[in-house]
Amino acid sequence: MHLEHDIAPLRERLQAYRRAGHRIALVPTMGNLHEGHLTLIDRARELADIVVATLFVNPLQFAAGEDFGRYPRTLESDRQQLTARGCDLLFAPAVDTLYPHGLASQTQVHVPDVSEGLCGGSRIGHFDGVATVVSLLFHLVQPDIACFGEKDFQQLAVIRKLVADLHFPIEIVGVPTVRADDGLALSSRNGYLSAAERELATMLYRTLGACRDAIERGDAAENAIAEAARYLEANGLKLDYLELRRPDLKAFDPAEDTTGRLLGAVYLGTTRLIDNVAISVS
Ligand code: PAJ
Repeated sequence: MHLEHDIAPLRERLQAYRRAGHRIALVPTMGNLHEGHLTLIDRARELADIVVATLFVNPLQFAAGEDFGRYPRTLESDRQQLTARGCDLLFAPAVDTLYPHGLASQTQVHVPDVSEGLCGGSRIGHFDGVATVVSLLFHLVQPDIACFGEKDFQQLAVIRKLVADLHFPIEIVGVPTVRADDGLALSSRNGYLSAAERELATMLYRTLGACRDAIERGDAAENAIAEAARYLEANGLKLDYLELRRPDLKAFDPAEDTTGRLLGAVYLGTTRLIDNVAISVS
């Protein structure tokens, strides 16, 4: 696998792939890779000739007081894992390389509506930072397809709208959430959890599942969600949000909609965890 830190050699390599007629898939990451990220690489390999991963802990998407400084940076082991999975090219730029004029004067991309509420409600500016860096990476790499995880369901929706609104000729592929054996969605932030918190963390997925089952059995979503919220709080998870939305994240209408997404975020100590499950009502 090739590793590039700078834009000019990245472009050269990509040009050579394109001249050879190769189809290019992009997998953007912030590194500290786990099986969730690596599953995106596998999917990208199935769909394209060349897989390009990016590793960049993007300061624009972290608010003041969030974990930008302590976010795990593990380039060497990430590089080994990507090589083992058959990734062709890793682009791992420095902050100054992507944002040479500084963060404050960086042109930003805002994706309205879908960026608001849910994670966007508690992480102000987060999705502007995501939309900006992903637009930048799309421009630099110009992939045919790009893979993103359903674990970050709102992020996936933001990127789908970004691509539609800016007419990027890129196919966005959503990849189902990869979980630990006990159901916890794999996340780089799971590493922040103490042993006791790690045990409690499984409750988010289990509670989302129980809430989904109740709604699919015919309980009113409002009641099932209130019950799930009470259960999480009673067990020491501080709820940020728990909401049923349409799969495009617009408001769910029980009179009309038969499919939806139940999305939740909790704090365990200072660690914020998110997860979501599909819902289907007849
Ligand atoms: P990061 O959190 O590193 O995630 C990179 C990609 O891996 C995202 O598409 C995310 O949804 C996916 N992913 C993470 N955990 C997953 C899991 N358990 N199962 C399936 N996919 C999973 O998301 C970001 O980075 C950043 O916001 C980024 C898009 C790179 C922009 O900076």
